[in-house]
Amino acid sequence: MRSKIPHQKVVIIAIDGPAGAGKSTIARLVAQNIGFLYIDTGAMYRALTLLVIKEKIDIANEEQVIALAKKSKIQLENNDDGTIKVFLNGENVSQDIRKPEIAKFVSLVAKISRVRSQMVQLQREMGQKTSCVLDGRDIGTVVFPNADFKFFLEADFQKRVNRRYKELIQSGIKITPEAVAGDLKNRDTIDSTRECAPLKKADDAIAIDTTDLTIEQVVEKVLSQIH
Ligand code: CDP
Repeated sequence: MRSKIPHQKVVIIAIDGPAGAGKSTIARLVAQNIGFLYIDTGAMYRALTLLVIKEKIDIANEEQVIALAKKSKIQLENNDDGTIKVFLNGENVSQDIRKPEIAKFVSLVAKISRVRSQMVQLQREMGQKTSCVLDGRDIGTVVFPNADFKFFLEADFQKRVNRRYKELIQSGIKITPEAVAGDLKNRDTIDSTRECAPLKKADDAIAIDTTDLTIEQVVEKVLSQIH
């Protein structure tokens, strides 16, 4: 990893880890703090999954999923508060992609290697234009293996479940803690055992266990490495 920002034209910060470890919150706050673009790569896989469900495509039919991915247009925009807006073929789907139904199927869509190569291409195009913080599962290992800074966030399973449960309830989604636990377990398994770009820590990523840390403490740890 390169350690000095000033000589870099474009700086890439990669934040990977499993669901509920705090990636998106930390990535957003870090990006805001240093004035970088925030790219939520999971939102891209979620948007495609939404389309697959809407079009009633059988996820097991990879050719059809790939064809759909090829003709769909997924765009991300940063809001002033650092959160992102996600557009699918021009429609704002930012709320819809967070629904449990999407979470249930997204890992099956994301494990298709040709879907991934398309998303990775888009992510690289976005990242090459401007300095950014990207969060996902394979940013430090596959998308930007030469990222300037790499972090891998982890947390105890129960803590991750509690965080995600609270988040969903606060956004008005009715769900039980058991259902959230089931979702995270299912996605952890598929994401970390898939053949193409599995969820794993890059050798040169800095691991941060966020179980007993506040959001501010994690942001501080990340920023202290960057500065
Ligand atoms: O926020 P959360 O961690 O729940 O998930 P997300 O970042 O929105 O990602 C949703 C799903 O997309 C993950 O469970 C992965 O299956 C997939 N994903 C991926 O495969 N690669 C990425 N770079 C980002 C997400």
